[in-house]
Amino acid sequence: MKEQIVICENLSKNFVVGNSEVRAVDNVSINFERGEFSSIVGPSGSGKTTLLNLVGTLEIPSEGRIIINGTDLSHFTKEQLTNFRRKNLGFVFQFFNLIEGLTAYENIELPLIFDSVPYEQRKHAVEGLIQDFKLGYLRNKFPEELSSGERQRVSIMRALVNDPIILLADEPTGNLDSKTGRTVLELFDNLNKERGTSILLVTHDLSAAKRANRTLHMHDGKITFDMKIEEMIKEGI
Ligand SMILES: Nc1ncnc2c1ncn2[C@@H]1O[C@H](COP(=O)(O)OP(=O)(O)OP(=O)(O)O)[C@@H](O)[C@H]1O
Ligand SMILES: [Mg+2]
Repeated sequence: MKEQIVICENLSKNFVVGNSEVRAVDNVSINFERGEFSSIVGPSGSGKTTLLNLVGTLEIPSEGRIIINGTDLSHFTKEQLTNFRRKNLGFVFQFFNLIEGLTAYENIELPLIFDSVPYEQRKHAVEGLIQDFKLGYLRNKFPEELSSGERQRVSIMRALVNDPIILLADEPTGNLDSKTGRTVLELFDNLNKERGTSILLVTHDLSAAKRANRTLHMHDGKITFDMKIEEMIKEGI
């Protein structure tokens, strides 16, 4: 049996807005396997980001629990969650979230500095990624000197620098033109196929979703469809 790296059990998240309550994620139970590339699609407001943020420990569940790589996060304090996240998870966002005053190299290195990783080890990790992805020419450039595609590549390197259990990406091509978006998606593809990186990708873009080997649809906080690519091909979807 494949190794389950993320286990979500009866997960719900409610947000209180004024006098009303929104159930953004509604009793979701789902697991992700090591090496799996899954996409989440669904209409705006269906709970995709909230589910991703729950898995990413950026949101605390209202009900249910999450187990990542055998660690039950239910009773973790905020500080313990932050430490866990820094060591074990990688995030890619729509708007890159790079620090303007830092070079590409320094941006990639930053998560390791936050995690108090010693200098030699940091250097080894950042240099390794820069070599692997042939981004040496970007090393000393600041974000404002980079194209949007280059920024997203740098932010993907930053997400990978701690060798995360899973890479969590929320609309990573949402701010890119379609050609640049495709090259970024190819990078995700390669990461998954060649390095075995486990990926959870939230996207509006169906062609992006199809690159994944499993697709989930969300609606009103629930998962309404969950299929592996082989099954979809068999069913002609
Ligand atoms: N911090 C918050 N406070 C209050 N309500 C929230 C918060 N975050 C999300 N919601 C609500 O929860 C529901 C799900 O939102 P979520 O952002 O997860 O949807 P989404 O599927 O990612 O949408 P989009 O495709 O627009 O990004 C929405 O009704 C949203 O308004
Ligand atoms: Mg969203």
